[in-house]
Amino acid sequence: MITTNTPADAEWEPHAQRLADELAAAGKFTDPRLAEAVRAVPRHAFVPTYHQQTPDGSWAQRTSVDDLAAVYSNTVLITALARTATGGTTVLSSSTQPGLMTRMIEALNLADGARVLEVGTGTGYNAALLAHRLGDEQVCSVDVEADLVELARQRLAELGYHPTLVVGDGAAGLPEHAPFDAIIATCAVPAIPWAWIEQVRPGGVILTDLKPAPGAGSLVRLTRTAEDRAEGRFDPTYAAFMDLRHTAGDNPAGFQVERDHGQAEHRTTSLDPNTPWTSLLVWFLASFDLGPGISYGYTLPESGAVPVRSDTAPTACWMATPDGSWAEIALASDNGQHEVAEGGLRRLWQLVENAHDTWTELGQPGWNRFGLTVTREMHTVWFDHPDGKRAWHIASH
Ligand SMILES: C[S@@+](CC[C@H](N)C(=O)[O-])C[C@H]1O[C@@H](n2cnc3c(N)ncnc32)[C@H](O)[C@@H]1O
Repeated sequence: MITTNTPADAEWEPHAQRLADELAAAGKFTDPRLAEAVRAVPRHAFVPTYHQQTPDGSWAQRTSVDDLAAVYSNTVLITALARTATGGTTVLSSSTQPGLMTRMIEALNLADGARVLEVGTGTGYNAALLAHRLGDEQVCSVDVEADLVELARQRLAELGYHPTLVVGDGAAGLPEHAPFDAIIATCAVPAIPWAWIEQVRPGGVILTDLKPAPGAGSLVRLTRTAEDRAEGRFDPTYAAFMDLRHTAGDNPAGFQVERDHGQAEHRTTSLDPNTPWTSLLVWFLASFDLGPGISYGYTLPESGAVPVRSDTAPTACWMATPDGSWAEIALASDNGQHEVAEGGLRRLWQLVENAHDTWTELGQPGWNRFGLTVTREMHTVWFDHPDGKRAWHIASH
């Protein structure tokens, strides 16, 4: 077990001050009340230890007080890990980049006295920023992991913060504490939970990472424009949070489909197989055709397939959908042409190529050109204007 010392205020306060200055200079907020919150909340108290991945892929535990500068930098700190069914490791919780938190809080446009629900308490650091800015009474936070909530409660209380903390599935919101002026989620949702729309007051804001399929989506800021409608735009800057889990400790494993090249159709493509991950809007637009349960990774020469993070040089990208369709695209090219193999019912790489064509026809726009309208029945992603000609749909759940 790692024991931690408590640094004196004189040790951590200059780091917090520097972080506040850095975030302000980088445009992560303009509101002086947020600068005050970043200066006042000791991040190390919420992240006394964290995990760092080493070059060989294993995880090492670090102690915050040994490197206060690292803890007061604008970085994600991994705070909870769990074993996967296949013996791997997955991240259960982290302390989000402080600059992303301040940017998101500022995007909520909170007036003094506003009431906020945070979904994804994690370490409690963001709940502390919110409580510092708004007051304990105004802040509720929920996390599906009971032990994380308990730790956050203790650490917040030691610093004199007492927001309402609840253990549960944040997808249900907190009806007993509604209505809220804003709901901010620090985990990604495949669709906006209807409970959030019901629990935010008309004119109130929902800010969350919408990812209808793995890796496909970004931050969207919605306003409840009517009793049964929320609408808004994607944030210009891409952001990614871990997926919301309905059950504590749950870590849905990706799946693989046997890729029988003998039964596949073979062709070449001029589209670089890395494109969906270097141009994430292509992946987002493709996800509406690919469907929600997509799995993907890199193919290694010796082992077949691995998750996307690996130090071994891969030879191809693969993707698969639950209907048994798959595609594998060689990373190497000959005269700009990559070998493609596609098997199963659908030609998956063709769907990605179509999405790339659409994105190119639209002038390769950024996230801010896209918006979302949510009704009880349907999520509609639109281009430039809610009544515009281009729209993509997913069912509301
Ligand atoms: C990126 S972390 C949150 C960081 C946090 N805001 C902070 O300041 O430390 C995401 C959190 O979402 C939580 N989470 C996942 N599924 C959830 C759910 N259904 N309801 C509430 N929280 C959930 C995870 O347990 C994790 O702690």
